[in-house]
Amino acid sequence: MRYLAIPALLAATTQAFFTSPAPGHPTYTIGTDLVLEWEIANPPAATFVLTLRAENTTAYDYIPGPFGSQIGLYDLRDVVLEEALPLTNGTYTWKVEPSGGDGTFIGQEVIYFIRGDWEVTGTPYGSGASTDYFYLVN
Ligand SMILES: *[C@@H]1O[C@H](CO)[C@@H](O)[C@H](O)[C@H]1NC(C)=O
Ligand SMILES: *[C@@H]1O[C@H](CO)[C@@H](O)[C@H](O)[C@H]1NC(C)=O
Repeated sequence: MRYLAIPALLAATTQAFFTSPAPGHPTYTIGTDLVLEWEIANPPAATFVLTLRAENTTAYDYIPGPFGSQIGLYDLRDVVLEEALPLTNGTYTWKVEPSGGDGTFIGQEVIYFIRGDWEVTGTPYGSGASTDYFYLVN
């Protein structure tokens, strides 16, 4: 039990959460600024990897799963926005641009969110936080 308590404590002392964008599922126009803001208690000596995650919520195919079920396959287009953003910075401005390069990965079918992941050197546990999902339009 002693060993189990340690990672829980580490996770609790390095919690970060995004305060902007606000929860809900806002829509952002391509080319505008999305201002990301986060708060972190007791920031560890670590940096964020900030990743833009995008998923087409309509499956493009199905494969057989266990017990006769069907598993949907989804088009995922992740983009690393920043490799090493200081956790203490508290803000990051992203010029809104759809994933995938061709500008078509937008609209109500595609959900986006931004995820920050960090690792504290010397512990095997990474941690992180995600924004709520949002949509992009032209
Ligand atoms: C999402 O996936 C479906 C199924 O493959 C496809 O018909 C649709 O065009 C895709 N939508 C976007 C915005 O890429
Ligand atoms: C860090 O925060 C400052 C404002 O506090 C901002 O101007 C700067 O762009 C941020 N750095 C990065 C890499 O986003």
